[in-house]
Amino acid sequence: MERALVTSSFSMADLCPATAAQGVSRSMRLSYVSPTASAAAQNPSYGRKKNASSSAPPSGAASATVITSPPATYDVQYPTPTRPAEQTEQDEEHLVAKPKTTRSVAAATNGRASRAAPRPSQSRPRRRPAQAAATSLPVTFCNALEEMINTFIDPPALRPTVDPRNVLTSNFAPVDELPPTPCRIVRGAIPRCLAGGAYIRNAPNPQHLPRGPHHLFDGDGMLHSLLLPASPSSGDPVLCSRYVQTYKYLVERDAGAPVMPNVFSGFHGVAGLARGAVLAARVLTGQMNPIEGIGLANTSLAYFAGHLYALGEPDLPYAVRVDPATGEVTTHGRCDFGGRLVMGMTAHPKKDPVTGELFAFRYGPMPPFVTYFRFDPAGNKGADVPIFSVQQPSFLHDFAITERYAIFPEIQIVMKPMDMVVGGGSPVGSDPGKVPRLGVLPRYATDESEMRWFEVPGFNMMHSVNAWEEAGGEEIVLVAPNMLSIEHVLERMELVHACVEKVRISLRTGAVTRTPLAAGNLEFGVINPACLGRRNLYGYFGVADPMPKIGGVAKLDFDRAGLGDCTVARRDFGPGCFAGEPFFVPDDVEGNGNEDDGYLVCYVHNERTGENRFVVMDARSPDLDIVSEVQLPGRVPYGFHGLFVTQAELRSQHQ
Ligand SMILES: [Fe+2]
Repeated sequence: MERALVTSSFSMADLCPATAAQGVSRSMRLSYVSPTASAAAQNPSYGRKKNASSSAPPSGAASATVITSPPATYDVQYPTPTRPAEQTEQDEEHLVAKPKTTRSVAAATNGRASRAAPRPSQSRPRRRPAQAAATSLPVTFCNALEEMINTFIDPPALRPTVDPRNVLTSNFAPVDELPPTPCRIVRGAIPRCLAGGAYIRNAPNPQHLPRGPHHLFDGDGMLHSLLLPASPSSGDPVLCSRYVQTYKYLVERDAGAPVMPNVFSGFHGVAGLARGAVLAARVLTGQMNPIEGIGLANTSLAYFAGHLYALGEPDLPYAVRVDPATGEVTTHGRCDFGGRLVMGMTAHPKKDPVTGELFAFRYGPMPPFVTYFRFDPAGNKGADVPIFSVQQPSFLHDFAITERYAIFPEIQIVMKPMDMVVGGGSPVGSDPGKVPRLGVLPRYATDESEMRWFEVPGFNMMHSVNAWEEAGGEEIVLVAPNMLSIEHVLERMELVHACVEKVRISLRTGAVTRTPLAAGNLEFGVINPACLGRRNLYGYFGVADPMPKIGGVAKLDFDRAGLGDCTVARRDFGPGCFAGEPFFVPDDVEGNGNEDDGYLVCYVHNERTGENRFVVMDARSPDLDIVSEVQLPGRVPYGFHGLFVTQAELRSQHQ
């Protein structure tokens, strides 16, 4: 029942000591256990249920539902004469998503009609190269060339940042998919404002162990969704981990090996140029089509206009869906919003909590290097606003909005493709001679004629936390972590210190002032989403220990700026315990309407015991008290950004 996918000398013990310590030793040569088998290994009750009844699910919340492994996994790994007819039909159509399977499951479970199909203008299935191509001569030839590059052109010792044996270690190691699997609440009770909702965290999780260099940012997106029960008597929480079925994921799943080079690690020096040539050969011989997307959808999620999206900035959003009855996670397709969205979109769009609009941008190596755009509350995309005043391609990961403005950072991380060609370096790197600046554009601008840039030496912002207007709209206040020693962000992340700052821009005088808010190494900050773009008091930050590991959460009071350290509450997860970005869920059921009436949620992994938990903290308490914990049946690797989707939002998903 296992399939050797990639030849590698790594062992699971190399990559994940905690897993090996639990006796889940697997050869990384590479035996990816099927999702079904994986669930059985992690949930002893699964095998019994499956034996007792062929239709029994591994989900307590879906006791009448059959959840299958992804169809193509069946197709490739487990040839079986009992494969459902609808899966056969799907494979024949080469669809990206599997809406028929999902809808039939939902209908069977809920006793109601199948849900409406995704709007064609938003999400449409993509065709991909025929699976037979995996064994063709061009594929074999290109694979051989890549093997030669990995063996003879890459340096014998890869840099630690791109050495898979270093990058994919401990809880950064990938996991198998996990079908909906019940979990146990081991502490407290789920607060009512969370009931029936789902916490979903995105994380890079390479489908195949890489043959060559691999950066943390290069893994395929996997969504780890925990569906919470609607009431204490309605069952257990349900964890489901599924890949976002991007074009890249599907092509490489069919090929059984990596096909598309890693963006962050594959294009260094001469080896990068050689990989570029192999990539061109693959395109010319029809093995892949970059127009269908090159992204990983591994960074974040957004819920907007009735759709849930998995996001990664080099590509378009991928529509995904969490079934509110079963907890199953499915991919429904790559969305171009009726052909109006091209190339890519930031993984950090901003949804105005009052107007319901969504503001976003894309950036790239070709002019215009930045393009701004917005969507109305119904999800209709407006016209592009090219920003030609950005005259050098920069790494622009996040931005901010106020009620009237959009604020763009230009930082010292830049794209330098010529450095790779003539200097054997990386196409992305730092430029210490560049002066960081912030651009302020009226958020309803139709061109950049009113854009103003403000130089802010020493301020390199990767993520924003919030921004608002003061002094009658004459001042803009921005709160964001400033990445000190920005040059280490890509190569030595553990050396980076992020200092949260309050930046004040006077639109009248042009003066810019900066006030550090805390001494701690704080990143991945979030706020009450109802305050986005408006003046607010509190931010909740991951405590880097070191970056990118998060050993705790700190709550900052922005109004204490200038009065010393603004930390007003903090929780450390304990020795060996690490989480990721916290997410703030407002308590709109039992709260009093205060900004910090709510809960912070995240996944926590114990590297000493291998335990994994979903943790709920009271954002009001000075120690961020843990009020509820859920024991997870599988490992959730460290990742990037998460989202809590309420029960009402889950039920109103259009797809
Ligand atoms: Fe991010």
